Amino acid sequence: MVAPLRLLGDRLLSALQTALPLDTYPEPLLLPASQAKFGDYQSNVCLSLAKQVGKAPRELAQKVVAHLNVEDICQPVEIAGPGFLNFRLKPDFLARSLQAAIGSDRLGIPPVREPRRVVVDFSSPNIAKEMHVGHLRSTIIGDCIARILEFQGHDVLRLNHVGDWGTQFGMLIAYLDEVYPDALTTANALDLGDLVTFYKKAKQRFDSDPNFQQKARQQVVALQQGEEHSRRAWQLLCEQSRREFQKIYDLLDIQLTERGESFYNPFLPAVIEDLAALGLLVEDQGAKVVFLEGFTNKEGQPQPLIIQKSDGGYNYATTDLAALRYRIEKDQADWIIYVTDVGQSTHFAQVFQVAQRAGWVPPHVTLTHVPFGLVLGEDGKRLKTRSGETIRLMDLLTEAIARSRADLEQRLATEGRSESPEFIDTVARVIGIGAVKYADLSQNRNSNYVFSYDKMLSLQGNTAPYLLYAYVRVQGLTRRGDIDWRSLSPDTPLFLEDDTEQNLAKHLVQLEETLDLVSAELLPNRLCQYLFELSQLFNQFYDRCPILSATEPTKQSRLTLAYLTAQTLKQGLSLLGIQVLDRL
Ligand code: ARG
Repeated sequence: MVAPLRLLGDRLLSALQTALPLDTYPEPLLLPASQAKFGDYQSNVCLSLAKQVGKAPRELAQKVVAHLNVEDICQPVEIAGPGFLNFRLKPDFLARSLQAAIGSDRLGIPPVREPRRVVVDFSSPNIAKEMHVGHLRSTIIGDCIARILEFQGHDVLRLNHVGDWGTQFGMLIAYLDEVYPDALTTANALDLGDLVTFYKKAKQRFDSDPNFQQKARQQVVALQQGEEHSRRAWQLLCEQSRREFQKIYDLLDIQLTERGESFYNPFLPAVIEDLAALGLLVEDQGAKVVFLEGFTNKEGQPQPLIIQKSDGGYNYATTDLAALRYRIEKDQADWIIYVTDVGQSTHFAQVFQVAQRAGWVPPHVTLTHVPFGLVLGEDGKRLKTRSGETIRLMDLLTEAIARSRADLEQRLATEGRSESPEFIDTVARVIGIGAVKYADLSQNRNSNYVFSYDKMLSLQGNTAPYLLYAYVRVQGLTRRGDIDWRSLSPDTPLFLEDDTEQNLAKHLVQLEETLDLVSAELLPNRLCQYLFELSQLFNQFYDRCPILSATEPTKQSRLTLAYLTAQTLKQGLSLLGIQVLDRL
């Protein structure tokens, strides 16, 4: 499919260049129309330019339209109101671009012209701590962003910046040495649940017992010096956590390369040395810090970013600086995306600033923090279990699957259907996991989102089950009509006569521009909205236009529309990390 937005944008630009040569023009030149009465696409470029060149906008519009060559795409362009340009796509343009998508495994969408090397840093839980719903959001959103950029042809490195280093290991090893030494020498002696409990107890000891504090600190030093027992213990603890994390990634179908904080340990001293050589590093109460621009404390004094603590230890920011340099120099990244909760926005702004001022970020490199809001319970407060504990991710996902299974079994009973246990397992899992992912992705990530099993599993509204149903409707046509989709040919004539056919066709050709928009803003909810509207438009078409009972050549035309809808839903959902099913 050819993205009409890009095609029309190019044409409009060349008309402007002839009618009104300027060095630059306002962006964007063209937008999807906000209301049907403005056509399919609209431009207010003449209004924006009028002031600049001192001409009446309508007069400018007439000049531009006189040079605009779009007869193959649109009806005659309309100049509306004070000088808006309204574009209406021609049915045969729509038909041609849809035909181009038949038989293409990318729905005719070409890869981007300039692929980038992108690091997406997401998920990134902490060892010996439970993965929580914040990590779930990071995992779901980060995976979706990575999938979209990959589809567009970028070279993506998915990195799991696991918190696998720090003083917590000193505490944990010192504690386990006392109470459960086997855990530090034998693999599989603990599971992550135990580890989290041990961690809490170790922390209590640390806060109340100076003797224990001393031991924990010695363990940190031993670990840093690579002492055998401590190293081995640390490795075992990491492996325990890793196994638990992997179960979640498998269930969610997430691919990630683990490269934890410890990986950057050898590169930390150079961060200090180089910042010192640049004259950016300052001693402040025994610590080595960089004073930040634009960040002040309550007294209005510049705030420091601590790079090395007074005890010589490094911290989260130091590691992020080392990681950033490594990703640019060694991984050759020209775009680094960090997906974390909004609470870390200041951290990233500060790290980015220090890296920029140190000259470590070449001009072609983009650094982007992708923040997201909290997960709330239906009571509007932070999501917790009934007893007030943080929810374990595994429990949350298992519950989603269990509820989706219960819904399914009830539906089967009402419909008097009997299905195999494998069918029930698959459907329950695909819907349960898909619902959790979709509920998260369909919200603007910047806001908090309310976690509700009932809403996310509902067949009505902007939910995964609603979209999956639209897909299944098309698969139903395949079965009832005994259709072999491979027989559809790009030469199939398409008749877009009914309004519902035209609206569906117009929406179908917008996938590419939707993806462009999503990757420019890194807002997956825009793709969800697109797919939701696609399902609605398809359902309107399906209710209004008979398909299998239509006579040829209308039947082939309608089947093609249905087929392209299904392919678009499948592609779109797969970019969200959601599988489709042939039957529900
Ligand atoms: N481990 C951190 C946390 O749980 C997230 C790490 C995000 N990535 C980064 N490069 N700092 O909050």
